[in-house]
Amino acid sequence: MASDQNKQTAAEHTWKGEGFAGLLSGKVAVVTGAARGIGRAIAVDMARNGAAVVAVDLAERVSMITEFEPATKADLEETGKLLEAIGGKWSAKITDIRKIGELKALVEEVEREFGGVDIVVANAGIQAFKSLLEMEDADWDDIIDNNLNGTANTVRAFAPALVRRGAGRMILVSSMQGRYGMKNGAAYSASKWGIIGLMKSAALELGKHKITVNTIEPGLIDTPLTRNDRRWSMAVGETMTTPPPEHPSEEETIRARLPRVPLGVPWLTPEQVAPVAVFLASDVAVRAGREGVEVGGFVGMGDYGDFDAREVYAGDGERDAVHRDGALRDDLRGELIGEFEGETPVGGVEVRMKGDDGEEFSGGVDVTLDDVAAEG
Ligand SMILES: NC(=O)c1ccc[n+]([C@@H]2O[C@H](COP(=O)([O-])OP(=O)(O)OC[C@H]3O[C@@H](n4cnc5c(N)ncnc54)[C@H](O)[C@@H]3O)[C@@H](O)[C@H]2O)c1
Repeated sequence: MASDQNKQTAAEHTWKGEGFAGLLSGKVAVVTGAARGIGRAIAVDMARNGAAVVAVDLAERVSMITEFEPATKADLEETGKLLEAIGGKWSAKITDIRKIGELKALVEEVEREFGGVDIVVANAGIQAFKSLLEMEDADWDDIIDNNLNGTANTVRAFAPALVRRGAGRMILVSSMQGRYGMKNGAAYSASKWGIIGLMKSAALELGKHKITVNTIEPGLIDTPLTRNDRRWSMAVGETMTTPPPEHPSEEETIRARLPRVPLGVPWLTPEQVAPVAVFLASDVAVRAGREGVEVGGFVGMGDYGDFDAREVYAGDGERDAVHRDGALRDDLRGELIGEFEGETPVGGVEVRMKGDDGEEFSGGVDVTLDDVAAEG
């Protein structure tokens, strides 16, 4: 009996092989954090695939602890222009995901204007970096309140609307930093790991209402959240054991990133993340519930095993890209004279070196995936 039921359900939902055009036709999608970045790309891609889209954002500074430029009303208007150009039904709403009352009012408004909700993308989020040793209360509270509580508010406010609709999709935007952690990013990682737990439980509870819940876990994506000195410094710092440069150039950041991203790109664009959301939101993904999908160029977050940098020098005793005091120095050639000091296997290690000028210094060298592969 049970297997018969399964067969029937599977037959009902099997993708019949139609083209992907109009994959979301007839659906109403609500996307939070849609003024720019990943949220905007998802909103636009969903609209292109036939969904009516409600673009939601606070469109002003969310917290005083953040260092990136906040999104503005003009950003949200720009998303509106892009949606307008596609030609489907759309709306832009100013809402703060930290306020469940505002979200519940938004649900009523969307149901009134659009007749219901099928897809909820809980994407809005902020990021800031502070070491656990230096952290003040706001450094923890603001991130958890916005990213974790705000996402939970979004789920709690919209779940009844999806139940009323008889089916639905929830896509929560977590992060690879949530899954793997990041130095100086404990609050952000905890908020994003919390979102994975929220997704796992929500999927268990809402599955019986034909609602799937998944997370997307982006790696480094090029958006206003990340295109700034602070985020780039953290990216470079992931490959070093000494304090990273505070204002790394784009080139320096790319050089630090590249060896860590098997796909061969330093970061992805928001438009490369969006199709994953479109797929998860579609009827095709009816069985894809309770999963986290990494979209990050297959970055290995420090899982390359043990590596002895001394081996890198065997034979020639010099490397191409030596950095000294945090700055990349193509002109510098050095001889290894000391022990490998760091523990970061890919991207860069610290060593005692003697430069061509005879001066000794503590420097770093680039270590590539090939070097690690050679190590075995
Ligand atoms: N860019 C990355 O590398 C990256 C990687 C992993 C995860 N993410 C996550 O993806 C999501 C989008 O990031 P992005 O890079 O596009 O950032 P972004 O800053 O460009 O966009 C985020 C948007 O969310 C909005 N927002 C934030 N808090 C809000 C609130 N309380 N209420 C309403 N709107 C709010 C902002 O105003 C902004 O428009 C975030 O959750 C972020 O944590 C980003």
